[in-house]
Amino acid sequence: MTSFDLAASARGKHVFVAGGSSGINLGIGEVFARCGAKVSVCSRKADRVAAAVKALEAAGAEAWGGAADVRNYAEVEAVLKSAKEARGPIDVLISGAAGNFVAPALGMSSNAFRTVVEIDLIGTFNVARAGFEFLRKPGASFIAISAPQALHPYAYQAHVNAAKAGVDMLTKTLAVEWGPLGVRCNAIIPGPIADTEGMARLAPTEAERKLAREGTPLQRYGSKDEIGYAALFLASPLAEYITGAILPVDGGAVLPGPGRLGDAMKQAYEKAAPRNR
Ligand code: HXC
Ligand code: NAP
Repeated sequence: MTSFDLAASARGKHVFVAGGSSGINLGIGEVFARCGAKVSVCSRKADRVAAAVKALEAAGAEAWGGAADVRNYAEVEAVLKSAKEARGPIDVLISGAAGNFVAPALGMSSNAFRTVVEIDLIGTFNVARAGFEFLRKPGASFIAISAPQALHPYAYQAHVNAAKAGVDMLTKTLAVEWGPLGVRCNAIIPGPIADTEGMARLAPTEAERKLAREGTPLQRYGSKDEIGYAALFLASPLAEYITGAILPVDGGAVLPGPGRLGDAMKQAYEKAAPRNR
């Protein structure tokens, strides 16, 4: 292959984004919209869905939206069916609906824990399970939106840690089961992304934002577009041999931290004679 037009590869595809009415998920939809894809979204609140459809149209998409709570299988199935009737078989199915709040495990009721597991993990199962029937097969692609919490046990995030770890394992299981059926399944782990509800909840002060930036090897927040570009790639023919991958798009944020000797070694290096540098 001498050259490849990634944007053109999405033209005319039908992309469905669950939880697509705001934030990173809407940002992914907008990247596909700018490439000429048809983009459908669902989330709980009809007014937010309607606003998202307008934003997607402004970005160039033939857009469609419907209200559905991903915790409710019948609602998910109905909205996916309607999207297929409106815009054709789904080429790219993205599951990004999520909920989060900061609380220690001892400050969570069983229902609080269950609520996030139901949105993030059961919701992802519902979207994938109900969506399979409406995919264009072979060739369609499923993408789950995971989080760094799937890999590291963040304090005050017991619900999200457990749910997103489950999302990653579910994605890998679907990759194994659906590969022979012509459907690739991957997940994206976004790092800290600017202008999102997630980071507003996790890092509400400038001091916390600074900590999040400095804990990221590339020393900055990512953008919604950067997550959209990763989804565009995973859904494209360039990624036709990629399935079961959990792709961090995070400026290195999920890499293990520096070894315990990190600071001591840096000081030793600073003190070393110039010939050693
Ligand atoms: C302890 C809490 C709580 C808190 C809610 N609960 N907030 N417990 N501390 N701060 C408890 C409630 O008391 C209740 O338990 C249970 O959780 C369910 O709460 P509801 O308000 O009834 O739930 P619901 O209306 O379904 O709303 C779900 C939600 C809400 C998750 C609580 O915040 C929401 O709708 N969030 C969607 C938007 C969002 O969170 N976006 C960020 C995604 S970012 P009881 O026992 O009282 O009944 C993300 C990861 C980011 O996912 C990663 C960044 C690196
Ligand atoms: P967001 O804007 O709050 O996005 C969450 C979306 O999910 C909203 O559109 C919301 O719309 C929808 N939603 C919530 N509960 C739902 C339910 N029960 N059924 C259907 N839809 C539901 O948050 P965000 O920060 O952009 O996060 C988006 C995704 O990226 C999430 O999967 C999150 O875990 C992941 N992530 C975010 C970051 C970050 O830096 N922000 C980092 C890593 C991973 P309604 O309210 O209308 O339902």
